[in-house]
Amino acid sequence: MTRRAPFIVIEGLDRSGKSTQTALLLQRMKATNIPAQLVKFPDRTTAIGQMINSYLQSDSDLDDRAIHLLFSANRWELASTIEQLLNSGISVVCDRYAFSGIAFSASKGLSYEWCRSPDISLPAPDLTLFLDISPEAAKERGGYGEERYEKEEMQRKVGEIFRRIGREISADGGKWVNIDAGREREAVAEEIWKWVEGVANGAVGPSRRLWT
Ligand code: TYD
Ligand code: MG
Repeated sequence: MTRRAPFIVIEGLDRSGKSTQTALLLQRMKATNIPAQLVKFPDRTTAIGQMINSYLQSDSDLDDRAIHLLFSANRWELASTIEQLLNSGISVVCDRYAFSGIAFSASKGLSYEWCRSPDISLPAPDLTLFLDISPEAAKERGGYGEERYEKEEMQRKVGEIFRRIGREISADGGKWVNIDAGREREAVAEEIWKWVEGVANGAVGPSRRLWT
């Protein structure tokens, strides 16, 4: 039987280096002969993803709850694909996941519990790497301000909620790692690799579902 591959999620604030680090990680996994597939949320290519894209670019307005449910539905449309990949031995590296969904929506004032509900029982990550950076440092990296949520005050709240989620996931026996993403790219990549190598070479238990 094929051994189930690990599900790795990379989370972080906007400009924390998620996309760069995800790409470096994928390269390194391939170079080490670890089959891996990138998944990115929001997936703007689907019909739901196009509605999300239009909202993020402020071309359309939606009720906070409606957009929250679309982000969640965008994950559900890929949930079975993710499971199939893992079960066929291909690791999935995911650029943002349900934790972004909660952090961004709850920071707009929606209840934390309400925000979590639609993502309950999605495939659970085996490892979540949270790229932690101060909103000040993120802002200095430039490129802020193009999309709806890229504002310092919002990012500060989002960061606080991410840390709360991390504490709860850890208390629940999940593997959540806060990574100092304010450092040089190579130092961050090395730390990420250390964690990923650990799960890629270690025992992966039966697949689990989020918050169940
Ligand atoms: P982002 O990862 O920044 O996309 P890109 O790399 O294409 O710019 O995601 C876009 C925004 O969507 C980001 O500000 C976070 C937000 N977001 C949510 O509000 N809820 C979610 O469930 C997800 C996945 C992202
Ligand atoms: Mg962005």
